[in-house]
Amino acid sequence: MKKVLLLALALLAGLAVGVGACGRRPIRAGQGDLLQLAQSRGLTPEDATRALKTFVPPGGRDEYMLFASGGHSGQVHVIGVPSMRLLKTIAVFTPEPWQGYGYGADWSEAALNGESNPDPREHLRWGDSHHPALSETDGKYDGRWLYINDRAHGRIGMIDLADFRTKQVLHVPNLQTSHGGIFATPDTRYVHISSKVPALKAWNASQGQRVTVEDHLNRYADIYRGYSTFVRIDQTTGRMNLKESFQIELPPYTQDLADAGKGTSYGYAFINSYNVEMATGGLAYGRPPLEAGASQLDFDYLHIINWKKAETVLSAGKFTEINGIRVIPLETAAAEGLLFLAPEPRSPHGVDVAPKGDYITVSGKLDPHATVYGFDRILKAIEAKNFEGTDRYGIPILKFDAVVAGKVELGAGPLHTQYDGQGNAYTSLYLESAVAKWTLGEPYHPADQAFKVVDKVSIHYNIGHLATTQGDTMDPQGKYLIAMNKWSIDRHSNVGPLHPQNFQLIDISGPKMELVADMPIGFGEPHYAQMIKADTVKAHEVYEPGVSPASMKKSADAISSEKEARIVRRPGVVEVWMNVVRSHFTPDIVNAKVGDKVIVHLTNVEQTPDATHGFAVPMKNVMVSLDPGETTTVEFTVDKPGSFSFYCTEFCSALHLEMQGWLIVEPK
Ligand code: CUA
Repeated sequence: MKKVLLLALALLAGLAVGVGACGRRPIRAGQGDLLQLAQSRGLTPEDATRALKTFVPPGGRDEYMLFASGGHSGQVHVIGVPSMRLLKTIAVFTPEPWQGYGYGADWSEAALNGESNPDPREHLRWGDSHHPALSETDGKYDGRWLYINDRAHGRIGMIDLADFRTKQVLHVPNLQTSHGGIFATPDTRYVHISSKVPALKAWNASQGQRVTVEDHLNRYADIYRGYSTFVRIDQTTGRMNLKESFQIELPPYTQDLADAGKGTSYGYAFINSYNVEMATGGLAYGRPPLEAGASQLDFDYLHIINWKKAETVLSAGKFTEINGIRVIPLETAAAEGLLFLAPEPRSPHGVDVAPKGDYITVSGKLDPHATVYGFDRILKAIEAKNFEGTDRYGIPILKFDAVVAGKVELGAGPLHTQYDGQGNAYTSLYLESAVAKWTLGEPYHPADQAFKVVDKVSIHYNIGHLATTQGDTMDPQGKYLIAMNKWSIDRHSNVGPLHPQNFQLIDISGPKMELVADMPIGFGEPHYAQMIKADTVKAHEVYEPGVSPASMKKSADAISSEKEARIVRRPGVVEVWMNVVRSHFTPDIVNAKVGDKVIVHLTNVEQTPDATHGFAVPMKNVMVSLDPGETTTVEFTVDKPGSFSFYCTEFCSALHLEMQGWLIVEPK
């Protein structure tokens, strides 16, 4: 044992000296010291290798950034890979005071309250952030924007990666919920989102809709609908534009995960579904429980959507507007050849398009196989009208055998697939707690080596989704894989019955997958993630002077020095232009009368990276974070007399404690 460890460390020392040759100070300590250190910590040679594979020296950088959804924490977490260190949490659907998100700052209130909010009285203060979608150019991540859907409410949040802040939350009409039906098209012309559980036809979120239990049980197929939504993206700002967006009405199956066609399949979209049985639930009404009712048939339907063609159908005016969005009705979608179905083994989860766009992998949790569809076969079957019939809504169903290119037996509970650059696929196995690596067909692998499992690694435990390095783009890099495990059970110190979830880092650069690190996730239920080369993301160090995060342009309310700071009063309103710099606010005394609305335009005039200040007002729920250069406005009403000490929440300088002022509210 000792000999093996010594050998491993000797090798590692050699490796480290090699690293040292390119500018860094090489290891000087003898192998004996390393051996002693490793032994004193009880590390095996494998551990030592893992440590070296994941260690990022102080001040060093990770090669990749993982954008992981935070589940019902409503946030997004940014994690460095391979070190698995948390770099940032971005609030999206949930208020977060450190970033001043949802505590009065204008940009954050606008985002959090949501655009096209059907019912502004409902101040939604949480969401279930589920599937991130990084913007792409030519099928590759471009590091501009990140979109994420809200499982609970069918919303999309847009994060600007220039400042890692959420700028827009869009309520998508006619959807009540969404799951994994989000992706960016390879050119980010659209971000797609589909409904999960169907909603009442033309669901009106603000007015509600008249419905009875009888309707629900007996008219389900008629009164419910799903929608595939193509949300148009403004190419300069990344903002979502509802006016130029459109929906395709779908049958009331439960549409689930989706992926974009790319390369040869550009212009198409693929969506999984389950519950094509249209089970309603309702044990007390003599109906099977949903999980049984939705699993009666052996097959559900893969939805194949030609969105490029849908654009010409829209140009021809063949749509109706419902709740503020253009909708192509189901009959039109069928008649115009926009929508086709293909049988897929029941209760599928992942639908994942291979890097060249030529294969589509579907895995059904209840079937141990991955089913691989060939896009060329799909096109041929559509052209030849090779249908086994239509569904009850008249949508053609392609013949299963005509469109399937291969099946691979993977193990129990295959769920989600990502790829590397060598024509290999990696599928999570939920029930087996493992990841299977397998081969795609031509042109990646010759026919006799295609669709075969070549490796498997155990994970801990209950893996949901997985992410490989840029593994859902046209530029997959095959270096790392993150297993997103729902359970950790015995992997970490016990912190109570609610255990952290567990991310595991797997090195996939060699022929054998190798588990190298655990990362406890104690801040949400991360669901899905995307991993991007870190240097593709180019966030600002500071804002240009006076820039508002809301517009990313110079604000009309920006000031450039304390000389411009001022208080302007008019009946019922006190408006302040406040200069913020180390270590004082100007003005530092603001007086108002009971009942006044106080508007404060804050400019952090600093241009030093990291010189962030805060502006917090006690008892007002006001907490604004101001990065260098930023101008942000906050409004609140003062309804009782008193003297309130506002202060800077960031330890910004040696005189940070002195960085405070007074809001004096005089009686009327
Ligand atoms: Cu500014 Cu503390």
